[in-house]
Amino acid sequence: MSRLAPQPGRNTPAPPGLSRAFGLSRGSVALSGEAFEEPNWRSEGMGRKEPLLEEMVILLGPLLLVFMLGLGLAPLSLAKDEDRYTHFLTQHYDAKPKGRDGRYCESIMKQRGLTRPCKEVNTFIHGTRNDIKAICNDKNGEPYNNFRRSKSPFQITTCKHKGGSNRPPCGYRATAGFRTIAVACENGLPVHFDESFIITSQ
Ligand code: C5P
Repeated sequence: MSRLAPQPGRNTPAPPGLSRAFGLSRGSVALSGEAFEEPNWRSEGMGRKEPLLEEMVILLGPLLLVFMLGLGLAPLSLAKDEDRYTHFLTQHYDAKPKGRDGRYCESIMKQRGLTRPCKEVNTFIHGTRNDIKAICNDKNGEPYNNFRRSKSPFQITTCKHKGGSNRPPCGYRATAGFRTIAVACENGLPVHFDESFIITSQ
């Protein structure tokens, strides 16, 4: 009986590289006394990965996930700081004040939603937004404990509740001044006003 030549596509052993790539080479079949390597399709399957690739996926997968989460969360945090900055401007910024007396305070405190209940003390900064923002960088600010203090003084009006009931209508006294101010910054934006450490320079 003549020896059967291995038929390509039937019992031909896969080349070594291919065998590794597809997880072949486990089974063998005897054909006319000759043993041929047969792919072990069922036990390992076509999708088997290289061990190195598997390790890379295991190691880099979580890192990639953290990176993607970071990319997603950064804009959220920036948006939150933008909101706090807008809130800061509502509470503490008035570009062109009229009067800077008690009536001014009573009117602007109500207008900015600070009278339900009557806020005890609130300061309005007059000037430009850019000058106030610049307190958060070296242009117009320097570190001061947990805050930043302005290098240049600002026109400010501090409104103080006259006392009595904290329910509206709220009566206020005004103090106008020209002072350096201390604010807290987040991501380069002022988000909190704090006047505790002010040096007066009238
Ligand atoms: O000093 P205190 O923590 O009580 O201030 C509470 C709030 O009052 C501050 O966050 C600020 O909004 C306001 N405030 C102000 N001007 C001041 C003092 C306090 O606007 N001179």
